[in-house]
Amino acid sequence: MSARVEPVVPGSVDRVSGVAISAEQIAARVKELGQEIADHYPTGDLLVLGLLKGSFIFLGDLVRNIPRPMQVDFLVASSYGSGTTTSGEVRLVYDPETHLEGRHILLVEDIVDSGNTLNRLVRVLRQRKPRSLDICALLHKRIAKGLELEARFVGFDAPPLFLVGYGLDHAENYRHLPYIASLKEL
Ligand code: PRP
Repeated sequence: MSARVEPVVPGSVDRVSGVAISAEQIAARVKELGQEIADHYPTGDLLVLGLLKGSFIFLGDLVRNIPRPMQVDFLVASSYGSGTTTSGEVRLVYDPETHLEGRHILLVEDIVDSGNTLNRLVRVLRQRKPRSLDICALLHKRIAKGLELEARFVGFDAPPLFLVGYGLDHAENYRHLPYIASLKEL
């Protein structure tokens, strides 16, 4: 007898389509990324900044795979204006309490899509005069034009699909999935 498959969002019509990147593939790549990051920062103070909410699972796994001392904090950003237009400004809803000046900052993001989020954040963070500023993104769609700062560490080039899971959401659902999947068109 086969087990009944529960929808990943209870009560919903399950829209999750194929698994794009499995939990095993993610785990293997995150381990590699952790070592790449440790090798890049051989000495000095490192502050890893996770951009919420999308990076929360990736960040948790990533920092446990970076074999060097570090500090961890978060950013919550909110754009001014309508959610569908790019105002070019960003407000930090949660601002790290630690000073960024003179420190190595690694900004951790789940996905680079249009690049608008990162472009706005990079401008804000540079004003804080860090010793260095780099980006680690789990996924990169490679469609962003004119990025202020290209991601130095990238987990996977992402297919041109709406992706959910491992922190990524659709209307706040699916973040908890241990893999990355695409959504079916309705
Ligand atoms: C998503 C994602 C990235 C951003 C990428 O965040 O987590 O931060 O969009 O898109 P972009 O490159 O086109 O700017 P969202 O604003 O949905 O918030 P979330 O992290 O809370 O899901």
